[in-house]
Amino acid sequence: MPTHAAQTLPPALPRPAPISQAEYRRRRQTLMAALAPNSAVLLPSAGLMTRSRDSEFAFRQNSDFHYLTGFPEPDALLLLLPGREAGECVLFCQDKDATLEAWTGIRFGAAGAEAEFGIDQAFENAEREAHLAELLDGRETLYLPLDDAEAMALAEAVRGELQGRRRQGAVAPRSFCDLCPLIHEQRLIKSETELALLRHAAEISALAHVRAMRAAAPGLHEYQLQAELEHEFVWHGASGPAYASIVGGGTNACVLHYISNRDALRDGELVLIDAGAEFDLYAGDITRTFPVNGRFSEAQRALYEVVLEAQERAVAAVAPGATLKAIHDGVVRDLTQGLLALGLLEGELEINIESEAYRRFYLHSTSHWLGLDVHDVGDYRLGGEPRPLAPGMVLTVEPGLYIPDADDIPAEFRGIGIRIEDDVAVTEHGHEVLTAGVPKQVADIEVLMISS
Ligand code: GLY
Ligand code: MN
Ligand code: MN
Repeated sequence: MPTHAAQTLPPALPRPAPISQAEYRRRRQTLMAALAPNSAVLLPSAGLMTRSRDSEFAFRQNSDFHYLTGFPEPDALLLLLPGREAGECVLFCQDKDATLEAWTGIRFGAAGAEAEFGIDQAFENAEREAHLAELLDGRETLYLPLDDAEAMALAEAVRGELQGRRRQGAVAPRSFCDLCPLIHEQRLIKSETELALLRHAAEISALAHVRAMRAAAPGLHEYQLQAELEHEFVWHGASGPAYASIVGGGTNACVLHYISNRDALRDGELVLIDAGAEFDLYAGDITRTFPVNGRFSEAQRALYEVVLEAQERAVAAVAPGATLKAIHDGVVRDLTQGLLALGLLEGELEINIESEAYRRFYLHSTSHWLGLDVHDVGDYRLGGEPRPLAPGMVLTVEPGLYIPDADDIPAEFRGIGIRIEDDVAVTEHGHEVLTAGVPKQVADIEVLMISS
């Protein structure tokens, strides 16, 4: 018979399959197929970062490194060496060290990296000096992240060493190319396994927003809703928030990246929450805005309906062939029309759009890619033109209105900030909303909050 405690816990969500070794291998092969002849890839992992004195931030793997390996340790280095007979995928990783492992946990070591991650040949870092330059000898082009100081220093050192051994027949790389655009094009299109992980991150994020809506009440502080959200994230096995959670009551909602979350929540005001879970390194990213006391005022509701209608039309437009630019232009038109109807703008619709008058109330874009990073990678334009959406892309749709607390604004609208954000995957024939688990209709939010 289950215990009382077990009965009161929410049900665990089924965990999606992790990315398989075969999928990591396919990703590396796809990347290698896009390289120039006689080249190699050099990609360092993330390192530990000091938080203060001898304490460190929680480790988070570099997204590109994770995408190609799944290897979860700091201080590792990936080499891809197309055509190498002894193995194309080489990893240097932390040395096995019984004393250090007693403090900070078991390290995979070279044998573990080969056995558990499908790496062709692994070495521990103590062997870097002996092998790194030799492995890259004869490769004309070296692909690496050019904006990564550690990668550049390693590449320069290797080049120097091979140039110094020219008389013994060594051949140093002649050019360094940026690796990032190639990986980022791959990362833009998500596989089925990645979509399942993003769906899971979105589902956890939605549960967390529902929990925060239920908990909200005048007199609580913004950080207490943050605690409700982040409890739900971690309870479901997420590592935590995918980015700093935003909980902004009243006029704080007008600060786009408000993260101090210290103020009290007041009766009669709205609260804007922009927060998402990170699960297996994949991000959720949801915004909801709702009344602290569970009931929208007339002015709040009028403004909210404008944002909601723009958001719903934008979500409906997500399909293969559509562009983020066209979706954003539609949002701008809908918001401008709504601002005119409420008397917050005056004059002709077209003239207001052309003069960008709406920018006083809406100054960010409507969408960004979503994946291993909350603002995920991949170009937004192709050949200078807005890029058509394609199946496997995942994006956010997040229009908002932020009304300044200014003398020329009707009193009932002053200082109101509203954003509504969902995560949307592009499918063969349209789209899938990943974040439908959290209400956004006025009536649904009010029923949820009043029945809590
Ligand atoms: N949470 C950051 C964003 O919505 O873009
Ligand atoms: Mn967001
Ligand atoms: Mn976003």
